[in-house]
Amino acid sequence: MKGIILAGGKGTRLYPMTEVVSKQLLPVYDKPMIYYPLSILMLADIRDVLIISTPEDIGKFAKLLGDGSDIGMNFYYKTQEEPKGIAEAFLIGEEFIGDDNVCLILGDNIFYGSTLEEKVEEAARLKEGGVVFGYPVEDPRDFGVVELDENNNVISLEEKPKEPKSNLAVPGLYFYDNSVIEIAKKIEASPRGELEITAVNNEYLKRKKLKAIQIGRGVAWLDTGTPRGLSQASEFVQIVQERQGFYIACLEEIAYRQGFIDKDQLLKLGEQLRMTNYGKYIMRIAKSEGDK
Ligand code: G1P
Repeated sequence: MKGIILAGGKGTRLYPMTEVVSKQLLPVYDKPMIYYPLSILMLADIRDVLIISTPEDIGKFAKLLGDGSDIGMNFYYKTQEEPKGIAEAFLIGEEFIGDDNVCLILGDNIFYGSTLEEKVEEAARLKEGGVVFGYPVEDPRDFGVVELDENNNVISLEEKPKEPKSNLAVPGLYFYDNSVIEIAKKIEASPRGELEITAVNNEYLKRKKLKAIQIGRGVAWLDTGTPRGLSQASEFVQIVQERQGFYIACLEEIAYRQGFIDKDQLLKLGEQLRMTNYGKYIMRIAKSEGDK
């Protein structure tokens, strides 16, 4: 399975913070925002990742993450010229996806929780169709909203409905079989001029090939769309890390635990960052655990 991170957009709701820096490069406590969605792909055992951003910003992502070989990953980069919608990622990524299935994650979606890895792994095992998640929120009107029956079958999906049919928001994490490319080519732009991901999901629903997995208590899905949300996300990461001593979205650690790199490489990566707590943490992991 291939992975795509869509890190485009203008981030206007965060101006002036994002006037010259891409939103997905802003810090969420101690690391750039894109580390968090990337960590989810890595937990799903996805090693080939296409990062899509604007022509102005793509170079910065490439500088930050390189070709990925340091952490046993393969990173590729492409641009989205205009913010023409999430589903355009499958057109931009057509060649990259090839004949594979694909997982798309939005570059500003942060997840954390103990049951998340198994849910993501379950979704990644998909053979055909599409998988979305449903996450209960107080007010789902800013999101895609999914309505489920008692057996978790999808009844309806709506983008930012004024009168939501459920409290289940659809987070920016989607798994699809290869027909997503053909579907993305077929859908039409919405009134706001975008190829909506909800239109893709509705096409899967029409074909009776859409599955939804509910994410319940014990998993945090954090909003980074406003200054308040961004600050709260930072605080959340800081609190968990300081309290438990486990880092959230430490890519080097995840690469090691997933078996993408060995202990020597982990130690080397830690040493390069030894002037920070992040680097010291990596070194501590490398020194405290047996080889894989
Ligand atoms: C997008 C999707 C929406 C989804 C949300 C998750 O909204 O269109 O369905 O629930 O991401 O972050 P946008 O961020 O484009 O407003």
